[in-house]
Amino acid sequence: MLIRDATAEDWDRIWPFWHRIVSAGDTYAWDPDTPEPDARELWMAPANHVFVVEDEDGALVATAYVRPNYGGPAAHIANAGFMVDPDRAGRGLGRRLAEHVLDQARRDGYTGMVFNAVVETNPALKLWESLGFRTLGTVPGAFRHPEHGPVGLSIMFREL
Ligand SMILES: CC(C)(COP(=O)(O)OP(=O)(O)OC[C@H]1O[C@@H](n2cnc3c(N)ncnc32)[C@H](O)[C@@H]1OP(=O)(O)O)[C@@H](O)C(=O)NCCC(=O)NCCS
Repeated sequence: MLIRDATAEDWDRIWPFWHRIVSAGDTYAWDPDTPEPDARELWMAPANHVFVVEDEDGALVATAYVRPNYGGPAAHIANAGFMVDPDRAGRGLGRRLAEHVLDQARRDGYTGMVFNAVVETNPALKLWESLGFRTLGTVPGAFRHPEHGPVGLSIMFREL
């Protein structure tokens, strides 16, 4: 498994699972019908430090981004997003990618990281807690989950 910085050419291999994850509408507070060019702008924005994971066969199986969550005097607080190809989920890739990204964010000069909207039914929440994030608050019923109905969106934070 190789974790490296993304290049523009990687997007075409990110998009299929990006689309699968966002169109499911159960983890990200983004339009499930986000068209491909808008998705590219969101994930590959110039302000984003984008990472990809390749498996031993060179398949692109996961991605993450880190960017400033705020501007100016608060630009040292990061935000990040993570996606593992659903066909490869649950095998430790997300944890290894997150550990790498946290380390890199610290090296890039960030002193903390915020997740703005973790769907409270997402098993990822437990992963973030195990990596040192704590929930600062939850916006009740903010997310219309396709199976569970209105569920909370949690704001999570950890120092780096
Ligand atoms: C969240 C995500 C990045 C985790 O990556 P992953 O490779 O599936 O996770 P891992 O295999 O590294 O598992 C990490 C931990 O989370 C838990 N976990 C992950 N997915 C889980 C699931 N579907 N159900 C229950 N637990 C789960 C595991 O128990 C594991 O704990 P452990 O390391 O102590 O065994 C990935 O599932 C994903 O892309 N999900 C869709 C997008 C998303 O939700 N992104 C995060 C938004 S906040």
